[in-house]
Amino acid sequence: AGEYLAALDRESIDDGRRITVGYSQVGQESQWRLANTRSIQEAAREFNMELLFDSADQSQKKQIEAIRRFIKEKVDVIVVSPVVEAGWDEVLKEAKEANIPVVMSDRRIEAGDDLTTTYIGADFLEEGRRAMRWLREHVKPEQGVVRILELQGSEGATPTEERKKGFYEILEENPQYQIVYTDYGDFTYEGGKQVVEEYINSHTWDVDIIYSHNDDMALGAIKALEAHGLKPGKDITIVSVDATKEAFQAMIDGKLNCAVECSPLLGPPLMKAIRDMIAGKEMPLRIITEEKVYDQSDAETVIKTREY
Ligand code: AHR
Repeated sequence: AGEYLAALDRESIDDGRRITVGYSQVGQESQWRLANTRSIQEAAREFNMELLFDSADQSQKKQIEAIRRFIKEKVDVIVVSPVVEAGWDEVLKEAKEANIPVVMSDRRIEAGDDLTTTYIGADFLEEGRRAMRWLREHVKPEQGVVRILELQGSEGATPTEERKKGFYEILEENPQYQIVYTDYGDFTYEGGKQVVEEYINSHTWDVDIIYSHNDDMALGAIKALEAHGLKPGKDITIVSVDATKEAFQAMIDGKLNCAVECSPLLGPPLMKAIRDMIAGKEMPLRIITEEKVYDQSDAETVIKTREY
C-alpha cells in the first residue's frame, strides 16, 4: 500500500473519462469527518469525477437509502463509509446485481469480500495499540494501579471496535493499568462531555487517564473536567485519536497529552483507486494510510503545517 500511495500522479491516471461516483458518508459528527468530506469533494474535482455525495447523520437507514438511489441513478462506482459494520449484505448484493463496484472508505463492514472491492483507510487496531504504548511509556504506575476511563466512539463502528481491541491488547500485558469505566460518546464533543459529566456526578473522582477514541470527545471531556475544577493534561493524562488542529491546540495549551494520528485526507488515494479500478488494474485489498503519534513535545511545530 505504501508504494501504491506514493504513486499519486494524477496526470498519468486521468484518461479524461468522466466517472460518476456515489459517496455515502457517515455524517458530520466530528472535525475529522468534516475534513474527510472536504478532502473527498476537492479530490473529486481534481480527478474530474462527478460526485453524488450523501451525508447520513450517523444513520445506517439513511445510508442504505442513499446506496439504493445511487444504484437507480446507475453511477459507475459506489463508495461507502459505513456507520456500523453489520447489516449491509442485502443492499450490497443489489449493487453487485447492478454491476456497480463498491469501495469501502475509512470504515469497513462484516459482509463477505465478494461484495466489495478495495478498502482505503487507517489501521485502527494499531492506533489503539499506539495509544496504550504511549501511556505505558509516559505514565508510570508509581503507587498501585493506574485507573483509566475510556470514551468509546459509536457502537458497532470499525474504529470503535478496533481502537478498543488494540488498546486492550497492550493493556492486558500491563496489569497495573486498569479500565475503571467505559462508555460510548458517539465520536461527538457533546457525547464525550456527557459521559465524563455523568461519571463525575456519580463517583468520587479517581481517574488517572482518559483514553478517548477521538479528539472531539476528548475536547468535550476536557470541558467537563474544567467545569468541575479538575486539571486536564495535568491531574489527568488524556490521550485521543485523530490529531486534528484542535487537538494540537489543546496540547499546546497543556490540556491534552497525546494525539494518535488518523488521517482524514483520503480523497486523493480514493480517486486514484477508483480510476485504477475502472481501468482494470489489479487493486490491493487494503490501502492503509501512514500515521504517527504526537504529544506536547512536537505540537507547536506540527500545528503550523497541519491541514485539518
Ligand atoms: O472513522 C473515523 C473516525 O470517525 C474518526 O476517528 C472520528 O473522529 C470520526 O467520527
